[in-house]
Formats: sequence, C-alpha cells, structure tokens
Amino acid sequence: MTQVNRSHELQRMARALRAHVDGLRLGGVTGVPVAPERAIDPEANERDVAWKEQQLAALTQEVQRCRACSLYRTRTHAVVGDGTLAARLVFIGEAPGRDEDLQGKPFVGAAGQLLNRMIVAMGLRRDQVYICNVLKDRPPGNRTPLPEEMEACAPFLQRQLEIIQPAVVCTLGAVATKALLGAHLSIMKIRGEVRDFNGIPLVPTFHPAYLLRNPAAKKDAWKDLKRVKQLLDQGDIREPEGGPHGASVDH
Ligand code: URA
Repeated sequence: MTQVNRSHELQRMARALRAHVDGLRLGGVTGVPVAPERAIDPEANERDVAWKEQQLAALTQEVQRCRACSLYRTRTHAVVGDGTLAARLVFIGEAPGRDEDLQGKPFVGAAGQLLNRMIVAMGLRRDQVYICNVLKDRPPGNRTPLPEEMEACAPFLQRQLEIIQPAVVCTLGAVATKALLGAHLSIMKIRGEVRDFNGIPLVPTFHPAYLLRNPAAKKDAWKDLKRVKQLLDQGDIREPEGGPHGASVDH
C-alpha cells in the first residue's frame, strides 16, 4: 500500500469510527452497555413464539394481497416488519422509503443506520426489538402518507401489536405518533412523555431522518430513549402506577 493509500484508508477508518462513536454518544453514552436480559420477553416460550409466527405469516399474506389504497400499484415490496416476535420493545416509523421498498425490510437506509445506533446506545441489539411502520407500502417519492392510506393500513399495525404484545412502544416522528395517539398532537410538545396505547406505555420521539437533518435534537431523543429503557427495565410495566394510563401520562 502506498503512503497516500494508507493515509486515505486511515482517514476512512477515522470517519467510520467517528460516525459510530457519534451514534453511541447520542447525547451521553459513555460506555458500551451490555444487552439487558429484559429486552426479550423471558416468558415467551416456543409455543407463544410459534403462535406469533403463524399469526404474523397470515398477516403478511394479507398485507401482500391488500388493495385497500393505491400504494400497492407502485410498491416493489410490502414492508411488514423486522425483528423478533418475542420483543418487549416495538419501534414504529412512518412508511418504507426507497431502500426499504427495494429490500422489503424497514429502516435499512440512512435513517435505519441511525436507528440501529440508537438501539445500540440503549444497550440493545436490533435483533432484540421489533421495527415496523404505520404504512406497509412506500408512498411515491417518500411523500407524507395520506389520511386515507393511514386509515387503510391501521388495522395491520393494530394486529401486529396485538400479536407481539410489547411492553413498550416507541413511535418515531410525527406521523407514527399521530397515527397511534391522535392527529391533534404535536411531536414537539409530547416527545418523551409516557402515553398510553391500548394499555401499552408509548413514548414518542423524533424520527431518525429528522435527527439526521437536525443533529442538535439528538440529545432530546437520547433522553426519550433513556425513558424507554427505564420502562423496559422496570418490572411489570403493563399497568403503571395509577392504572393503565400511568402516573406520567398527560392526556
Ligand atoms: N423511514 C420510516 O419511517 N420507515 C422506514 O422503514 C424507513 C424510513
């Protein structure tokens, strides 16, 4: 290797390392944490998981056959979800983008790379959580989902959550937050709060694509993720103190 090539290679490695450390830092990580045992439901036995797989396979077929809105005409793949069905944490984004449409997997593009780093910063691995979107098909040009598309797709997301039965849901961005909690809510106002979705604690945070455009918001996102982590690390959090709406819920 020539001196110039070696210097380029070192610069490339330094950039890659910096990007990785930036992701880990995300507003305050000082070490590499060990994945907590509580990431995956310890009671999820093989029979539960087999049942979940069966249900999700049926749902996947329905999504692939769905013609309830026009997005099926322009999609390459329907994107149902990714991760373990024994996950206690589900992340919900907006809709597949170009990379996701091509690969049939959520969050595999630039925003997905940041989401992966956010998950690692929480001390988890991507294969210990479940990731999906409000819409299962890509809106052309990545435009914002239309209300009728969200309405058509809502039963799929609802059933996905019923199948997985997560302990905590984290919505990524305004679209997912509004889809689950109500169109009148502002992500800027409610991010980081613990809300309730059908008895499941739900923490809204910024979408990774927004964080890529607004890196200064990463420190707030990190606070939100620490809240999610705290909920995951607690005991039985399905019914927080004060009933299913929880003490810190502010409707
Ligand atoms: N943005 C999303 O909301 N979802 C994806 O799957 C990818 C990017």
